[in-house]
Amino acid sequence: MESLFADEAFDRAPRVVADGAVWLPGFLDEAAQAWIIRQYRQWQSGPVPAHATTIAGHPMSVQTIGLGWHWQPGRYDRRARDVNNARVLDFPDWMTRLGRQVIAEAAEVAAADPQFPSGDERAWGLDAEDYRPDVALVNYYDSSAKMGMHQDKDEFDPAPVVSLSIGDTCIFRFGNTVNRNRPYEDIRLASGDAFVFGGPARFAYHGVTSIQPATAPEHGRLDHLGGGRINITMRTTGRA
Ligand code: SIN
Ligand code: MN
Repeated sequence: MESLFADEAFDRAPRVVADGAVWLPGFLDEAAQAWIIRQYRQWQSGPVPAHATTIAGHPMSVQTIGLGWHWQPGRYDRRARDVNNARVLDFPDWMTRLGRQVIAEAAEVAAADPQFPSGDERAWGLDAEDYRPDVALVNYYDSSAKMGMHQDKDEFDPAPVVSLSIGDTCIFRFGNTVNRNRPYEDIRLASGDAFVFGGPARFAYHGVTSIQPATAPEHGRLDHLGGGRINITMRTTGRA
């Protein structure tokens, strides 16, 4: 008897990945994924185009669009000084609502896990309704793009990061707060998946080791880009 089906079902159950980090596979339904792809098409038309941010003299392999703030290593700005100096789009209200839904659902998953008692929403320092992200970094990965292990530490506010994925599946490496090495876990983030990291996991190293081409479901396909993956991370900059 083929056991693959049962394993797959187990692999994609919502769960705590590390204390303060929760994975919610399939959080976005088909309509929500398709709708976000339509939003992405609008964001692509500006005012700031998707662009490769330069880090230490090297362009990243992902193409980024910032909403609310424009990101450059170590700084958030309202204008894209390294691209075309245009002011970025506002952070959308619907995304705040979505972020709160992710936090609330993740808190339930964490609260039900006796091994990780501090992973509930109080340990993230807020109730879901008080989550007020003000920047979204929207990253596009083509089939060869990657993101090296790093910490998200350009924000002054300790609120959790909420991540949403659409399109092709990636291998997301979620590690520890000490260094880029083991222990880490490789997770298949698929179209529609949400992931939260906050509290004791807020400064965990993480990265994307590969994209699995042509794995997107029909409603999550980025046909206008020839495939690939979009990841949105919402953060709270703590800047005025
Ligand atoms: C990021 O670390 O900012 C992006 C992670 C991802 O693409 O899943
Ligand atoms: Mn990151």
